[in-house]
Amino acid sequence: MNEQTPIALTEVDSMTRGLPAWTYFNQELTELEYQRVILPSWQFVCHVNQLKQPGDFATLDLMRDSVLVTRGKDGEIRAFMNVCRHRGSKLLDGAGSCKGRIRCPYHGWSYSLDGRLAAVPSEQTFPGMKKAEFGLKPVEMEVILGLVFVRLVPGGPSLAEMFKDFIEMARPYRLEEMEPVDQPWIETWNCNWKVAVDNNLENYHVPVGHPGYHRMLDNDLLGEINSHGVAVSESVLKDRPSPVWTERLYQKMAPQFLTDLPEKNRRTWLFFSMVPNIGIDIYPDSMDVFQILPKSAETCVMRYPVFCRPDDRREAKVLRYLNARINRQVGYEDQELSERVQSGLRSNGYQPGPLSDYEHAIVDFHDRLRAACPVVTLTQAPAHGSLSAVNAAMLTDTGSGDAAAA
Ligand code: FES
Ligand SMILES: [Fe+2]
Repeated sequence: MNEQTPIALTEVDSMTRGLPAWTYFNQELTELEYQRVILPSWQFVCHVNQLKQPGDFATLDLMRDSVLVTRGKDGEIRAFMNVCRHRGSKLLDGAGSCKGRIRCPYHGWSYSLDGRLAAVPSEQTFPGMKKAEFGLKPVEMEVILGLVFVRLVPGGPSLAEMFKDFIEMARPYRLEEMEPVDQPWIETWNCNWKVAVDNNLENYHVPVGHPGYHRMLDNDLLGEINSHGVAVSESVLKDRPSPVWTERLYQKMAPQFLTDLPEKNRRTWLFFSMVPNIGIDIYPDSMDVFQILPKSAETCVMRYPVFCRPDDRREAKVLRYLNARINRQVGYEDQELSERVQSGLRSNGYQPGPLSDYEHAIVDFHDRLRAACPVVTLTQAPAHGSLSAVNAAMLTDTGSGDAAAA
C-alpha cells in the first residue's frame, strides 16, 4: 500500500511541492524530528505572571520529556528537566506553587528552587554520594514579551533575535501585563504534527475553511516571513457587519470598548508563527499561544493557553466570551481540515501537489526540515529500522551533520 513512483517530483516540473506523503505517517521519522527539530527549538511554557512568587512553577510536557520553570528565592526564573536525579520520577505536574523546595513524590529527595539537591531521606544509606553532583539539569530559557520559552538542546538564535523584525507590531497589545484565562486547552488531533503545522502556516485556506474569519475580517493571505522562520499576518475587522451575531457584536464592541489600545490595534488581529511548531495569536481582547507537539506518527497534541490583560469590565468579559466562541469554532474547523488531510495522505497514488505563493511559509518550514532531516527528501520511506542510519549518512554526505532546523 501507499507505493509511490520513486522519482523526484522536481524532475517532473519546476513547481514547488510539499513533503512526500510517507513523511506524515512514519513513526521512525517522528522520533527523528523530535530529536533534531523539536528539541533544538524554542518551546513555550507559561507567562511570567504565572511565576510571581518564589516557588511558583509551571511545566511543559513534550513527547518524552518534561520541563519545569520556577522562580527562585532570589527572584530569578530558571528552567530544569522535570525529572528526579534518583530513579527518574517526574517531579511536578501542571502549574502551581511549591513551598520552598521541589520535593519528589517517590522517595522525597528535595531540590532547592535554584535546582540544587537539598535533602535526601536516609542520606547515610548512600555512602560516598556528593549531593552537589545531583542537582536538577538546567535548561536554556528566555522570556520575550512576558512569555517564557525553553530550548532543550541549547544554541541557535535567541528569541529576541528571531522576533526582532516584528516585535514592535506586538508591543501595543501589552502582552507582559497579561494573565492566564482558565486552564490551557490541551487536546489530541488525529494527524501528524506537520499536517497541523502546515495548516497553521498559511491563510490560503481561510476564505473557504473559516467562513467566520472571512465574514468578519479582511485577512492578509500572504503575510511576511523573516530569515529565522518567524512569520506574521494581520487580519483587520471589516466595517461591514457580519450576518452572524457573535461576529457582528465583536466587530462592534472591540473598537468601541478597548480604548486602552491604540485605534488601529482595537481592530487588528495579529497571527505570528515560529518554526517549527508555535503560533502566537494576538487579539485586541486577549492572546493565545498555539503549540503543536508530536505525539505519535499520526497524532499530535494541541496546547492552547489563553491570556488577557486584566480587565473586569463587563464589556471586556463579553468580548473574551465572543472571541472564545469564534476561535473555538475555528479550532474545530482546523482540526477537521487537518484530519481530512491526514486520511487523504494515505491514499494510493497521492503525490504532493504544487504549493501557492500564499503557502511560502510552508516551503520555509519544509526547507528547514529537509536541512535537519534530509531523509524527508526521499520519495519513499527507507526500509523499516533504517531511517535514522539513512538520515545520518545523508547528513554526512552533505557535510551538515550538526544542522539544526531552526
Ligand atoms: S525517584 Fe525521586 S526520590 Fe526516588
Ligand atoms: Fe485555519
